[in-house]
Amino acid sequence: AKKHKVTVIGSGNWGSTISKLVAENTAEHPELFERNVQMWVYEEEVQLDRKSKHYNESSELSQGPQKLTKLINTFHENVKYLPGIALPHNVIANPSLTDAVKNSSILIFNLPHQFILNLCKQLRGHILPFARGISCIKGVNVHESSISLFSETIGQELGIYCGALSGANIANEVAQEKFSETTIAYDPPLMDSQSPSPSPSQTSSPVSSHVDLTKLVHKDVSGQPSKVRLRPLPPEYHPFDHATIKKLFHRKYFHVRVVSDVAGVSLGGALKNVIAVAAGWVDGLGWGDNAKAAVMRVGLLEMREFGNRFFPHTIHPDTFTVESAGVADLITTCSGGRNYRCAMLSIREGKPIEEIEARELNGQKLQGALTAVEVNTFLKSQGLEKDFPLFTAVYNVLKGNEKVEKLPDLIEPEDE
Ligand code: NAD
Ligand code: 13P
Repeated sequence: AKKHKVTVIGSGNWGSTISKLVAENTAEHPELFERNVQMWVYEEEVQLDRKSKHYNESSELSQGPQKLTKLINTFHENVKYLPGIALPHNVIANPSLTDAVKNSSILIFNLPHQFILNLCKQLRGHILPFARGISCIKGVNVHESSISLFSETIGQELGIYCGALSGANIANEVAQEKFSETTIAYDPPLMDSQSPSPSPSQTSSPVSSHVDLTKLVHKDVSGQPSKVRLRPLPPEYHPFDHATIKKLFHRKYFHVRVVSDVAGVSLGGALKNVIAVAAGWVDGLGWGDNAKAAVMRVGLLEMREFGNRFFPHTIHPDTFTVESAGVADLITTCSGGRNYRCAMLSIREGKPIEEIEARELNGQKLQGALTAVEVNTFLKSQGLEKDFPLFTAVYNVLKGNEKVEKLPDLIEPEDE
């Protein structure tokens, strides 16, 4: 059977970590995957830190700024976004998006959510039409009064099926191979193993394999028939089913559960970032663990309500309480995540969160503040701000409409 070629699109803190663990697995499963994993890098010039073990005064690579891809491929380390972690030699950093995805049947999307739409535009026409995607992006796509998951957006933009990976996964801990769990949601309308048999001409080249699937209605997670016409994986490929997904992502230190609830998994990852901002504020104010737990409890209920209201056709409300992508991610993010830490410092120092982000994160991007604004845009368009008091409070505090000290009043339930 033909092996899957894998590309990770994105190479930040989490993108580099996912590349590492996926490359460990492609090396261990040569029957399923090509060994080398392409990792697309948004190219930039980086000056090697004097404290880096790779710094060597007499080396050219230590003299002034160098291309990040060159540093990664020379030192097998993402010295800017995942410093101190050795990447397997079969992770290949590639600054060309179109070259990185060429002939790849598995595309793993892993970059801050604000960049994904632009990236999809650049990818159109350059990927295998039957590729399968997994989105590791934590965020939602809001456009005026509509909301969609990034797995859906990617699927629509590129005409492919895209699942979602999310969990309690602080990247630096996973990169150090400390134990964690994750959830992968993958539920294509047509399992690849059930694809109709192609004609002989369709088997000759995977790229030209295109059977008409107009009879197959691909329903997106909100239950709407979608315009995407999915192409089956050509039969010469190993099916990309739950077992193969597990072989690609599961490690001894990274336990994978594969489920079908794409909406629950994606919303858990996106919305907990908003709650983490509130948790950081509460700790910044020195209000203690009870206050933080209260914010997390209210936030968890709003997450579940959000899923039930806006993705009722496919959501499994249990995902938020049972899966790593729900409550476990909420707990870890509100304990040591970047959104939490930057929000806490913003209160302690009396500075906007964006200023702390720029100072503390060395180019890494917060998702929580942006998601709070996007979620509010959507809730406002639906006239439903009142039904999500914590999400609305986070937005109003960020915009300076409310004082952070008023948080308990803002989330206090109205009398029955
Ligand atoms: P990051 O925060 O490290 O972001 C920086 C990345 O963005 C870099 O690779 C940078 O090159 C890239 N970038 C900057 N400008 C760009 C542009 N204009 N176009 C494209 N790329 C650009 O990224 P990350 O931590 O890998 O996060 C990716 C996703 O994974 C996010 O949705 C995040 O919420 C999620 N996530 C992160 C973690 C974590 O602990 N870091 C864990 C789980 C999930
Ligand atoms: P932060 O982006 O807040 O660091 O959260 C990381 C994460 O998603 C952990 O699961």
